[in-house]
Amino acid sequence: MNHKPALAAVALAASLSFAGTARAQEQVNIICSVQAEWCNLIQTVYGKTTGVKVNMSLKGSGEALAQLIAERANPKTDIWFGGTGDPHLQAAEQGLSLEYKSAALPQLHDWAQAQAAQSGFKTVGIYSGPLGFGYNPELLAKKKLQPPKSWADLLKPEYKGEIQVANPASSGTAYTMVATLVQLWGEDKAFEYMKGLHKNIQTYTRSGTGPIKAVARGEATVSISFVHDGPGEKLQGFPVETITPAEGTGAEIGSMSIIKGARNLAAAKKFYEWALTAQAQQFGAAAKQFQLPSNKGAKVDPNVPDFKKIKFIKYDYAKYGASAERRRLIAKWEKDVNSLPR
Ligand code: F6P
Repeated sequence: MNHKPALAAVALAASLSFAGTARAQEQVNIICSVQAEWCNLIQTVYGKTTGVKVNMSLKGSGEALAQLIAERANPKTDIWFGGTGDPHLQAAEQGLSLEYKSAALPQLHDWAQAQAAQSGFKTVGIYSGPLGFGYNPELLAKKKLQPPKSWADLLKPEYKGEIQVANPASSGTAYTMVATLVQLWGEDKAFEYMKGLHKNIQTYTRSGTGPIKAVARGEATVSISFVHDGPGEKLQGFPVETITPAEGTGAEIGSMSIIKGARNLAAAKKFYEWALTAQAQQFGAAAKQFQLPSNKGAKVDPNVPDFKKIKFIKYDYAKYGASAERRRLIAKWEKDVNSLPR
């Protein structure tokens, strides 16, 4: 039997597959924790302008962290883009993210640089936004209710079954609420408050943006949300307003991290540098997401909340981003609050 043709075919196939590998499209695997419109815009624009294939998976902040912990031994993710800063700090502490110091750091606001510095440069701030309430003015009027102005207002019996907030285990927004209340009043008072609030909660959602979307669509009356998530709903024509609580509130430092052990490290670094540019940060507003960009040169859309008009607590990002503290507060919330009947 003549083996020559078969051998030639194998050699040809091998050379083709080698050529295929050499020409394989560069790719980057991203967990994206902002809203889908922004993730999709980045995927398209970055892919089209660089030729890099962007594989995007959408996950809330807490869920993203859980995935990175689960895939620690064999990471499938190169970049974690967006989501609240606390779980990014936790990822840094647990050695899940890679130390990387961008030359662009001086272009960023102090709060974004501080986020990088306190993580040993394993994460960086890409945006910020204040926590507050969303409400549906039409639904409130129909139910003859006043818009809430303070955390205290949310305990009023007339709001029973009217309020949505996310679950702090899956959502960074809701964890920011827990940490904010603890810093505002001390732990005992904050948990007493959350037990009272529990009676008025209609649903704890998985995602932090779920509640304001429900409010906009008339499925709930009030939400505890980042206030930058309101204008995007309003621009779609939904009746929704936002307000920040009179007692004071916290803000997130939305962050980005390169994953330790990233399979596409060079591509991850390139994407990271791009995402810190003023130009790239403007894609947030282009996708109707109105967080404050961390690059000082990025244009600030008029829909971005005016930080000067908001009463802020001095949020201790290092303390509330620490693994033990975040785990402890979430477990305590599950046990002392979420397990109670409503
Ligand atoms: O994308 C909107 C947003 O509010 C971000 O500003 C924030 O980082 C993220 O959602 C938090 O989402 P979640 O609460 O689901 O973790």
